[in-house]
Formats: sequence, C-alpha cells, structure tokens
Amino acid sequence: MMKGKNDRSIRGFSRLSKQEKLNWVCENFFGDSESAQETFEMFHLSDPDVQNIFDGFSENTISNHILPYGVAPNFLINNKTYCIPMVIEESSVVAAASSASKFWAQRGGFQYEIKDVEKIGQIHFFWSGDPDSLKQLFNSELKSDLNHHIAPFVKNMEKRGGGVREIMLTDKTEELDNYYQLVLTFDTCDSMGANFINTILEECLKRLKWLFANREDLKNGDQPEFLMAILSNYTPDCLVRAWVECSVDSLHHPQSSLTAAEFADRFHKAVKIAQLDKYRAVTHNKGVFNGLDAVVLATGNDFRAVESCGHAFAARSGRYQSLTDCSVENGVFKFSLDIPLAIGTVGGLTCLHPLAKRSLEMLGNPGARELMGIAACTGLAQNFAAIRSLITTGIQYGHMKMHLENILNHLNASPEESEKAALYFESRIISFNSVRNFLENVRCARPVK
Ligand code: MEV
Repeated sequence: MMKGKNDRSIRGFSRLSKQEKLNWVCENFFGDSESAQETFEMFHLSDPDVQNIFDGFSENTISNHILPYGVAPNFLINNKTYCIPMVIEESSVVAAASSASKFWAQRGGFQYEIKDVEKIGQIHFFWSGDPDSLKQLFNSELKSDLNHHIAPFVKNMEKRGGGVREIMLTDKTEELDNYYQLVLTFDTCDSMGANFINTILEECLKRLKWLFANREDLKNGDQPEFLMAILSNYTPDCLVRAWVECSVDSLHHPQSSLTAAEFADRFHKAVKIAQLDKYRAVTHNKGVFNGLDAVVLATGNDFRAVESCGHAFAARSGRYQSLTDCSVENGVFKFSLDIPLAIGTVGGLTCLHPLAKRSLEMLGNPGARELMGIAACTGLAQNFAAIRSLITTGIQYGHMKMHLENILNHLNASPEESEKAALYFESRIISFNSVRNFLENVRCARPVK
C-alpha cells in the first residue's frame, strides 16, 4: 500500500539503531530537525557505559529526560537525622519539606511504625465443578502440594527471612460464574518483590494446571480455564504509619497572626474537610504524594504502583478520603499518615540507576522498612507544609517567591538585583513581564514605579 503524504508511521522502528531512531523522529516530527536533534543529543550522557545502563531501562530510547534532584536536610525521623533526596519538578515542594522538617525537628521530629510488609499475588481461574469439594481438596492436599512445588523457588527468599506466607483459595463464584482466585501472600524482605512474586505465581499456575489435568478428583467439572497470574499492587497490609505530635501551645507559627490554638483548630478543620469531601481529598492527597513520590523516584522505586495503591487505600471505606488524620485532644496536636508502600532497597532500578544508589547511600543504606518510614514521613511533612500555607498565608505566597526566583534566574539577575526584586515584589503581583520591566528599570537606574 502507498503511504499517504501525512502518514508518519514506520515499520521495524525498534530494530533501528539509537541514532537512526533519533534521526527519524527529528526528521518526521520537528520543523527544525537539526535543532531538535541537538536538544535530544544534549542530554546524552558523556560516559557511554552509564548511557547504556539508562538505555537498557526502557525501549526505543532516544535521549534522557532530566528532573531536578533536590535534598531536604535535617529530617529528624525516629530520632535519626536524615538528608532526604527528592526528585520532583514542582517548585516549592523541596522548600516546603525542608521547612516542615525544621519545624518538627524542634518538636520531637517525625515518628513511624511499620504495621506489616505483606504483599499479595493472585491466580485467576474458572472452573465449573463442585466448589465445596474443591475447597475441601485444596485444604487437605492441593495447598501442601503447591507449597512443595514452589519450595525450590522460595528457598533463597526464605534464607533472607521472607517467602510465601500463605496460599488461599477464594471462591468468587457468587460474583462471577465459576470464578476462583488462588491468593498468595508474601514477605519479600528488602525487595519490592514484583519479579519474585510473579515467578512464584507462574510456578503455582503451572502446577495447578497439572493437578487439574491429572487428578481424577478434579475431573468433576469442565476443564478449568486459567486466565492469568499476577501480583496485586493493592497492598493494604504493607503499611506504615507516620506521625508528629506536640502540645498545642508549641504550635506557634511565626509568619502568622494566629494563636497556636487557632492554628491547631484551622489545621484540624482542613484535615476534616479532606476526610469528607472528595474534591478536597484528591488535592490534599496530591500534596502527600508530592513528598512521597519524590523519595520514591529518587530511590528508583515504582511510583505508579505506590500511587495506584495509595489512592485505592484512600477509598477503602467506600469513599475517597484524606490519607492523613489530625486530632487535637487534651492540649495535644497529633497529625498522622497511614499509607501502604510496596517499595524496596534491593533489586530493580534501586541498584542499577547510579543516582538511586546514591540516594540510598545518602539515607544510610536503609532496608525496605526504614525506607517506607522515611518516604511516609516526607509525605506527611509535605502535607503539613501545604496545609500550614493554605490556612495561613495562602499557597501562592510560597509559590510566588519560588516563581520570582525562577524568573530572576532566567533573566540572569545578579544577587543585588534579586535582593531588590524580592523587596519590591513582596506586596506586588509577580509575572514574567512585571519582573522583566522591574529589572530593565533597575538596570537603567530608572526609578521603579
Ligand atoms: C500542590 O502541588 C499541592 C497542594 O495543592 C496540596 C494541597 O492543596 O493540600 C498545595
């Protein structure tokens, strides 16, 4: 078939070399192909070995996408001080985390507790035989057969203290005709464990198929249909609780005219609103994820898994709600976050991405449990900082300060010019044009109106 003039599809793209892919993309999708090529090439790493590692993470790679890597120092968590690596492109987030860490370091710091680290995998299958006899047989024989079959694959994880905790059969036939699940629970120690879990599930699936094909007592229905075996990213029992607390009296906020008690009351109300109104809850939780995701990304973990699980958890009551909670009782202010976090410190990107390795080193090479605590505390800090701004100065105050700095950097302002601009824009509206005009006037030594 002839290719139309506007048809920019291609066959065999994945077989092209990286340079050929880049050429093709630039020639076909950019007005100025040469300058596009330069931009993409600018982000190729000078060390080919490291670039190869990056190219190996994904497919059809033509460049690297760069995000800012910031740090939030002085985080006091379970009496240990951390400098927290944060990868995030949104201005004010790292500044807010740092400010919250400073605030809470003077009030006992952040605390966390791991509730459990259980992960889940499922095999989904359909069978038309008698459910009761299947359940009976599962408990008396099939379960131990499956455990025996997967033993060699679990051995190493068991040596590290983890493994398969339980294999359960769940009858779902009332929800969907003939539908069953084999549910496995796991402890994957310091790894996120996706590969381990999926390997075990597929081994179980193989054995299950064999059992149904070969056991006479499983031939009382049609041949089963085995649909799929995959981990679940919903891990409500891989759970961490992070919290801060202090006397209401010590909540004084220097930038605000509020008393400590008024601050506590307004803060409490803001959290309650996020518990009852989903429009507010989603934005509120987005603030939590601003901090959480930044740590998850910096340490090479799977932020999509963390996000989808976190949001499902936020809706566990049947209504989407705030992930954080606040109480003000007997003169004590307490603010907490419960969040499932299936993250790891070994395996996957955590040990391949050079900056992920450095992030973990910066954190003192924590195990998965400690990293869960650190990430949760950063999420809580972020949520605290966001609510504090919202109920006091308003969010734009901090954002605009950062925005001003970005514009000044863009316009190559000197330190003196930046100082003058900070003073001038304290009570004025910041826009790119207003800052540019201001600088032009300063540079021409004209009086600024
Ligand atoms: C912005 O990225 C996050 C906030 O909107 C969170 C919140 O409203 O709580 C400030």
